Amino acid sequence: MRILDYENAEIQIKNITQNSSNVLQDIVDFLCDNFEHYTWIGIYIVEGNELVLGPWKGPSATEHTRIPIGKGVCGSAAAIGKTEIVDDVHSDSRYLSCFVSTKSEIVVPIKRDDKIIGEIDIDSDITNAFNEEDKRFLEKTAEIIKSYF
Ligand code: SME
Repeated sequence: MRILDYENAEIQIKNITQNSSNVLQDIVDFLCDNFEHYTWIGIYIVEGNELVLGPWKGPSATEHTRIPIGKGVCGSAAAIGKTEIVDDVHSDSRYLSCFVSTKSEIVVPIKRDDKIIGEIDIDSDITNAFNEEDKRFLEKTAEIIKSYF
């Protein structure tokens, strides 16, 4: 199912940061294109008490372009400051539905100087798609991209 291994992907992400003039969009595109279980991926940016959708890639646009901090899985991860993995979105009462095909979700906060500045949100059409390896890899990615906000 995975096209790239995570170590190789991390090297390619670092290459993107060195060579791209549009780092956040190019990393979103890279992740969506190379990991089959990442169906939709977006970066939300903290603006005041809200998360505002920035670069994204996926089969269709989401209506949730602004999410109050504390609302949904996204707002919850931003409020707590910890990665959230939801194995089955339909059994999580916080879940804000975007796409009928979504089955599971991971949300990874992006921090700078202990402050949440944004997050990576990935929806998967596969139930239980995200494991500890995805968590580690995406937390590393968040660490790399925090300088490009
Ligand atoms: N499902 C998210 C909302 C964002 S969409 O998945 C793109 C949530 O529950 O916060």
